[in-house]
Parts: sequence; C-alpha cells; structure tokens
Amino acid sequence: MSSTEHKALILPAKGSPLELITRPTPTPGPGELLIEVKAIAFNPVDYYQRDFGFPAVNYPAVIGSDIAGTVISVGSSVPSDAPKPGSRVAAFAITFFKQGDPDYGAFQQRVIVPAANVVELPQKISFTEASLLPMSVETAWAGLNTLGVARDTAFTTKDKKGLLVWGASSSIGSAAVQIGRVLGFSVYATASTKHHAYLKSLGASRTFDYKNEDVVKEIVAAAKEDGITIQQCFHATGDLKSSSEAVKGCKGEGVGKVGTAVPPNADSPKVEDVEVTFVMMPEDEKDRLEFTHFIFGVWLKEKLATGEFVPSPHIQVVEGGLEGVSKGIDILKAGVSATKIVVEL
Ligand SMILES: NC(=O)c1ccc[n+]([C@@H]2O[C@H](COP(=O)([O-])OP(=O)(O)OC[C@H]3O[C@@H](n4cnc5c(N)ncnc54)[C@H](OP(=O)(O)O)[C@@H]3O)[C@@H](O)[C@H]2O)c1
Repeated sequence: MSSTEHKALILPAKGSPLELITRPTPTPGPGELLIEVKAIAFNPVDYYQRDFGFPAVNYPAVIGSDIAGTVISVGSSVPSDAPKPGSRVAAFAITFFKQGDPDYGAFQQRVIVPAANVVELPQKISFTEASLLPMSVETAWAGLNTLGVARDTAFTTKDKKGLLVWGASSSIGSAAVQIGRVLGFSVYATASTKHHAYLKSLGASRTFDYKNEDVVKEIVAAAKEDGITIQQCFHATGDLKSSSEAVKGCKGEGVGKVGTAVPPNADSPKVEDVEVTFVMMPEDEKDRLEFTHFIFGVWLKEKLATGEFVPSPHIQVVEGGLEGVSKGIDILKAGVSATKIVVEL
C-alpha cells in the first residue's frame, strides 16, 4: 500500500455488490484523524444500506461504521487529549452522518474519523476485539441518554434501581448490560437461555428467556422479590409490547420509559404509563461530538483500562480481509446469536 492511495470497497448503487477499488488516501481536516484499519466489525445498518439503500447514501459510497486500527495522521484543531499518530484505537466511522461520503466509511484500509469518535486502547485489547466496541457502546449510551440516565449515575445496591435490557445478547444489548452494571443498576436481561451465564459474567443480576410465554410475569415477580423498581428499559430488539409490559409491572409510581433501538411505527403497541422513544444520537453535530467525546474519549477509555468494560458479545472472524466483507455482512444478515462478525486486514 502506498501512502497516497489505498484499497476500498465501494457501493456503486443501491443493491449492487461491493466493489474493491484503489482510491486516493484523503488528508484529515480540522478535528479529524486518519486511521489505518486493522479490523472491521459489521452491524445491521450495513446490510440495510448495501441491500435496501436505507439510510440513504450518495453513490458511489463507502459504508460501514466499526473499525479498529492505528492513527496515522492528525488534522488541525484536534483536542490535546486526542490519540496521537501511532496510537492503537477503535473508532466510530461516520458514513451514516456523511451520507456515504467515501472518505468516512469503514470498509477500506484508511478512514477519516472525528477525533471525538476515537477511543485509545490498552495493549491487552486486540484490534479484532476492539472493533466490536464503537457502534455497540455508542448506541447503548445513546439509549441511556434517551431514557434520561445521567452520565454520572452511581447507584448502590441500597438504591434498589433496576434497568431492563431486552435482547441483551445482541451486540448493543450486551454493551447496555455492562454500562448499566457500571452505573450501579441491578440489570435484568432477556436472551435465549444458552446465553444467561455469559450475560451474568457481563453483570446481569437476573436473566430471563424472552421465548418463555410467562417472561413478563417472571420479571415482575423477580423485581418484587428483589425489592427493586425498574423504570427504564433499553430495548435492543424483540417484542416491544413485552418489554413495555414488564416496565409497567416493575416501575412503581409514575411513568416508565422504554428506549428502543428498533424504530417504533404506527402499529407499535401502546402500554399505559410507559413512554416508548426511538434511540438516537443528538442531531446537532456539536452536541453529538461532545457526547461521543464523553463516550469514547472519557468513559470507555477509562473503563477499558480498568477492565470494567470488555468487548462483547463473542467474535466470529471471517477470512479474506476486505474481500471477506460481503460474506461477513451476509452471515450477519442471516442471523447471529450473541456474536459479532469481524474481518481482519
Ligand atoms: N438506533 C440506533 O442507532 C441503532 C444502532 C445500532 C443498532 N440498531 C438496531 O438495533 C438492533 C440490534 O442490533 P445489534 O447489532 O445489537 O443486533 P445483533 O447483535 O445482530 O442481534 C442478534 C441478537 O438478537 C437477539 N434476538 C433476536 N430475536 C430476539 C427477540 N425476539 N427477542 C429478544 N432478542 C432477540 C438474539 O438473541 P438470542 O441469540 O439470545 O436468541 C441475538 O443474540 C437492530 O435492529 C439494529 O438495526 C439501532
């Protein structure tokens, strides 16, 4: 690879196969870093964009969000606490916010990212593991923000505060379990039974199988037995009515809240005294960068160093580097279970 050009996968049009090309390596602008990519992880939005053109991009696009690698150059006006050239990092690439602008998508050897979207990695975390972090941690924190959970929340067991995570073995759900535990919530998690021990290792205090028809009753009974109230649910995926009913049964006085990562629609069930809100990052760019700097540059950096947060869920590496990307996305699209698909470059 020369220093002036690199390999990239472009999406030429909606529904087209990704094409491997050589493109000029861009220079990072103000507040940006250029990353040499060592691992890429996949998210459902990758196949929404590749196959259905949603969210919309301008073509030709480079899509993809999750990368880990090394900082190779730094633009102007980058904050003094930003990682320096040579630093090992994971980064949230902003193809979504740049409508597929090829300089900003993850599926290539070199990617420009805002310095605020980058977390410096301890040596003990490999690039492959680190690639799991950006989308999952950002979405879980965005969910808690949507639910009104303050960044400096620090409950103790005496506070008897619970957080329900529905679809907890998903990528974003497993991150929410860990963040909830760090903030001091008693975390109740739903997932297939085979993942319950793993979710407990991440910090869930109680686990439930969402496939059990009595799951809502079980959650309400457990909260009563534990003497906790659950006013908030991070709904990663699954049945929104069940998660809303569980909050209704566990919330005590007042209105309960469900933050759903899957967009609700007109047919979504309404449950009395439970507000359902779609999880979004702040729309305003300045607010968004302030939030991502908190998530990656402050919170995650510290929690990775202390070991309080670990990359989750499990990893499946697909061979082939960039040429394995389409296969990796196809595996994700076919359905995964507590597993993130990754390619290594
Ligand atoms: N709003 C946003 O900004 C945002 C950001 C990222 C993702 N998302 C969306 O959030 C959702 C989750 O994304 P992800 O990447 O975390 O997904 P993922 O890891 O691919 O999800 C796989 C998991 O879903 C679980 N699952 C499947 N059906 C379920 C059900 N009926 N009830 C509960 N869990 C169920 C499975 O659990 P078991 O194996 O235990 O059965 C599996 O572990 C996707 O729809 C994605 O598009 C939204």
